[in-house]
Amino acid sequence: MLDLLRIDYSSWGENKMEKNTDVIIGLAYGDEGKGKVATYLSKDADIALRCTGGNNAGHTIQIDGQKLVFHLVPTGIINQDTIGIIGNGTVLDLNVLVEEIKKLENLGVDISKLKISTRAHVILPYHLIEDQMQEKLKGNGKVGTTGRGIGPAYADKINRIGFRMKDLYEDDFEEKLKRNIENKNRIFKVFEMPTINYEEVLEKLNIQKAVLKPHIVDTVAYLQDNADKHIVVEGAQAAMLDINLGDYPMVTSSNPNIGGILNGSGISLQRINKIIGVVKAYASKVGEGPFITEQDNKTGDLIRTLGHEFGSTTGRPRRCGWLDLVSLKRVSQINGITDLNLNHLDTVGKLDKIKLCTAYKYKGAILTTYDDKIIGHEDEVECIYEEFEGNFDAENITEYDKLPEKAKTYVKRIEKVTGIPVTYIGTGADNKHMIVRK
Ligand code: IMO
Ligand code: MG
Repeated sequence: MLDLLRIDYSSWGENKMEKNTDVIIGLAYGDEGKGKVATYLSKDADIALRCTGGNNAGHTIQIDGQKLVFHLVPTGIINQDTIGIIGNGTVLDLNVLVEEIKKLENLGVDISKLKISTRAHVILPYHLIEDQMQEKLKGNGKVGTTGRGIGPAYADKINRIGFRMKDLYEDDFEEKLKRNIENKNRIFKVFEMPTINYEEVLEKLNIQKAVLKPHIVDTVAYLQDNADKHIVVEGAQAAMLDINLGDYPMVTSSNPNIGGILNGSGISLQRINKIIGVVKAYASKVGEGPFITEQDNKTGDLIRTLGHEFGSTTGRPRRCGWLDLVSLKRVSQINGITDLNLNHLDTVGKLDKIKLCTAYKYKGAILTTYDDKIIGHEDEVECIYEEFEGNFDAENITEYDKLPEKAKTYVKRIEKVTGIPVTYIGTGADNKHMIVRK
């Protein structure tokens, strides 16, 4: 019989609840510039973590003029002593992951620091076909997805027919893969989509499995064992794209909000320190669906040109408009945002006038807080704007005191309406072009 007295349970009593995790969350429709503040904050971090979404994300950073685009690996891994973790809440296209690893290796990044969760789900080639097929079948109701197979991979996870990273190495993997491919092919034939060849998929997967094997770990256990370490979580997608709390159905298939981050990493609420919400000084969106402050006109075109608003994942021109504080207040409350990061302040300075939406008018009533009764009627909502003077030069400024008064007026108004300090301000493309207010 097992001698229970000899088992060492002493670590059970340890309090491992230090508040050492800072989280970065996009608060609009994505592409807010999360990578920049993530790289900045993870300079002092032991661990940089991505735990939501997949390669629908495109996080661009620029260091001394050199542009780098990340899709899956947390940007913080470029800091020499920062470990990179891809958590259990993600969906991983192994073609993209292996490619990204190679690119980082070529840049001299020590990729042995990368850990991938045993429980992260795998995007398979049939998910990309399903993504296309679903969009086609939706007709006018298409979402305008990134086409990366994200929704179908999460759907299979929920349907319990997905593969976690660890499943790829199990004895029954080939049998299960074959069954999935056969079943998917039956559907593809009905809808006249291309079919998938099992042998080809398997051959490629076997090569990728060998490359990735040394990186696969139980990241939940790793994060628990490293409870004293400083973690920076790089959120992907954004609050308005959240499947539960965003503009459903014009959303992504994951939970970019704080709840998704906890679930996607296994980090407990008690470890969270700061929750930094990222927005641009204007607004942008790719894909279909509501965008109340959209400027589908010359102003929007000008913002797109000045802000270089073309997708880093798909190259699509982004829809542009004004910052919406009604929505920002709502998502900040949902996420418990402690600090704001306002990017592209330099860009709005190049406009004559800047507008901030501070209320909605809907069916004669003024709404200063978001209300679900506008769902499906967003195009009947009239925005109430406050207007600010543009024509200021904030480009590349790194100290708040050196900002022109007009720029400060704009920042202060955002702080006043949201009640949240704007701690980080982006003033240019390069990572170093950022104001950090203590
Ligand atoms: P980052 O992390 C911008 C959008 C797509 C589409 C919708 C659903 O770079 O901010 P999906 O392929 O996820 O099923 O598409 O969500 N979308 C993003 N838009 N930035 C992103 O990520 C996005 N991830 C998804 O454009 O409207
Ligand atoms: Mg993007």
